[in-house]
Amino acid sequence: MLFVTGITGHTGKWFLDKLINEKYTGVIRCVVREKSNTNLLDSSGLNIEKVYGSLEDRTFLESTMVGVETVVHISSILFSNNVIDAAIKNNVKWAILVHTTGRFSKYKSASEEYIKIEDGILKRNNEIGLTILRPTMIYGSSGDRNMFKLVDYLHRHKFFPLFGNGENLMRPVHAKDLGYAYYNVLVSKDRTLNKEYNLSGENPIKYIDLVRSVSKALGRKNTIVKIPLSFSVLAARVYNALNKNALISVEQVLRMQEDKDFGYDQASHDFGYSPVSFEEGIKDEVHEYLTSKQRGSK
Ligand SMILES: NC(=O)c1ccc[n+]([C@@H]2O[C@H](COP(=O)([O-])OP(=O)(O)OC[C@H]3O[C@@H](n4cnc5c(N)ncnc54)[C@H](OP(=O)(O)O)[C@@H]3O)[C@@H](O)[C@H]2O)c1
Repeated sequence: MLFVTGITGHTGKWFLDKLINEKYTGVIRCVVREKSNTNLLDSSGLNIEKVYGSLEDRTFLESTMVGVETVVHISSILFSNNVIDAAIKNNVKWAILVHTTGRFSKYKSASEEYIKIEDGILKRNNEIGLTILRPTMIYGSSGDRNMFKLVDYLHRHKFFPLFGNGENLMRPVHAKDLGYAYYNVLVSKDRTLNKEYNLSGENPIKYIDLVRSVSKALGRKNTIVKIPLSFSVLAARVYNALNKNALISVEQVLRMQEDKDFGYDQASHDFGYSPVSFEEGIKDEVHEYLTSKQRGSK
């Protein structure tokens, strides 16, 4: 039996889509919450068992993992220890954990906790089979919490303030590529068991070009206003000193300058991972945004 967390989320929905397309026949036990939207699960036609509870609840996890062979844990890394403890107690054979490339940040506040959790779990690989998937920034629809804000901002404003020179490399990954990758990892156990994979978009893209791509997809002529890094940091410092609930910290401004160019060669080799480019992938998200705007204005 398969046990899945986070299937109602942004990438979990694409995992479900792939399970449906591939006509997966096994039992899939899914952790959902009372307020989760389970419409897609209910209409999937798959052999789904819903179990209601929170991943914070260790007793719930232990009791619902009875009889499970494989876990796909899509929901947050912050629940990974609870999931792994319950899995080991139930003699689960394999856990596929969706974590994050955030562990590679040079800023401790961003990476420290992820490293501690992930390395602690990896030390237990004699008790359970483990596969770690590490997405970069996820985008693809209104379900992301990053790119949709940028799309909205560029649609509503002419000028875009950019901290620093925007030359840093990024490699965002489309939610569909990720959701489908979860499935391909699952069905390629002979190659993916006890491996770690970074999952990113097709090519690295400079942050400034990413902003330009969104503008282009929107059909907008935004003007990018570069704010020198030294001035950005100073401004963030003053803003944070004056505002207890500041929306951006000095460290976040600095972290934006970090290169986040993580390749996916191992994933291509082991399960044929072949993600879409940002320029292509962002078109869906912009289309969704513009359609929702048109509906709203009617
Ligand atoms: N966003 C990024 O840019 C990014 C980057 C790197 C890695 N990641 C990681 O990649 C993974 C997949 O991301 P995603 O965008 O698909 O996530 P998402 O859209 O935020 O979905 C989270 C899922 O976890 C469920 N969930 C949250 N708290 C729960 C709890 N206490 N008990 C039970 N279920 C709970 C949610 O259920 P409901 O439907 O009830 O809300 C939802 O199904 C996550 O682990 C995320 O941290 C994200």
